Amino acid sequence: MTVESRAAKHEYHLDTASHLGRKQVSYLEELLDARTTAYLDEIGIEAGQRCLELGAGGGSITRWLAERTGPTGTVVSVDLDVDYVTAEPGVDVHRHDINDGLPVAGPFDLIHARLLLMHLPRRVEILRTLVDALAPGGWLVIGDFSDRPRRVLSAPTPADERVFDRVQHVAHTFLAREVGVSMTWAHEVDQHMADAGLTDISGQEYSRTVAGGTTGCLLHRNYVLQLHERLISGGITEDELARYRTLMLEPRFRAWFYQFVCTWGRKPRKARRRR
Ligand SMILES: C[S@@+](CC[C@H](N)C(=O)[O-])C[C@H]1O[C@@H](n2cnc3c(N)ncnc32)[C@H](O)[C@@H]1O
Repeated sequence: MTVESRAAKHEYHLDTASHLGRKQVSYLEELLDARTTAYLDEIGIEAGQRCLELGAGGGSITRWLAERTGPTGTVVSVDLDVDYVTAEPGVDVHRHDINDGLPVAGPFDLIHARLLLMHLPRRVEILRTLVDALAPGGWLVIGDFSDRPRRVLSAPTPADERVFDRVQHVAHTFLAREVGVSMTWAHEVDQHMADAGLTDISGQEYSRTVAGGTTGCLLHRNYVLQLHERLISGGITEDELARYRTLMLEPRFRAWFYQFVCTWGRKPRKARRRR
C-alpha cells in the first residue's frame, strides 16, 4: 500500500527523487547499512513487530526490517520521496512530510530514522512525537553525522588539502546555517532521549577512511553537485568546486569520512514522568 499526503512545501535541501539524490542514498546504503543492521540486531527485531522507518531513502532498511518482522509484522515506511520504496506485503509506504506529524498512529515497537533529524529544524519536537508513538518497551533509534573534523590523510598537493577543508568548512557552517542542518545534533540525541523519559540509552560512533574514487568520496562529490549553487553563494568559487570534484575521484586523496553516531533508547514498560 502506498499513501500520498505530501505537504505543499518542505525544508529538505536535497532531492532523493532526482538522479543525483538516488545516487546519494545508494552511497549511504553502501557506507552505513552493515552498521545500522548490526545495531538493530543488537536491539533485537522480531517477527510480528510493528516498525516505523522515517526518511527511508533508497528503502534498504525498510526491506531489511520487513524480512525480520514478516510475515506477521508491519513496516510503515515514510519519506518525502518514496519512488525507491516498494509497497510489498507487510510494508505500508507513505509519501509524507514528518513535520506534519506521523502519517499513522502508533504504537510502534521500533522507530528508526537515519540521517533525517539532523536536516530538520524542528528535530527536538519531532523526537518527542516519536517517543510518544513508541509502544511500552519499544525502541527509538536515531543515527546522524556529527561535526568531528574531517581530517585529510593525503592529498596530491597542499592546495588540494586546503580546497577540501574550505568546501567542507563552508558546507558545515554557512550552508548548515542557511538550511537548518545541525552537525552537533548527533551528540545531543542522548540527552534529548533521556529528557523524554527513555531508558537503556546507548550509542555508538563509526568512521572510516575513504579514498578518491571510492564510495565515501563519491558521496562528498555528489553533495557538492547537488549543492553547487548554495556553495557558490557561500563564497566558494567555480574553480574550487571543479578542483574538489576532481579530487574526489583522485586515488591519492585519502581522508577520514564523517563520524556516524547512532543512539538508541527504550520506552519504559511502565509510564515514567518526563523531565
Ligand atoms: C540523507 S537521506 C537519508 C536516507 C536514508 N535514511 C539513509 O540513511 O540511507 C534523508 C531522507 O529523508 C527524507 N526526508 C527529508 N525531509 C523529510 C521530511 N520532512 N519528512 C519525511 N522525509 C524526509 C529525504 O527525502 C531523504 O530520502
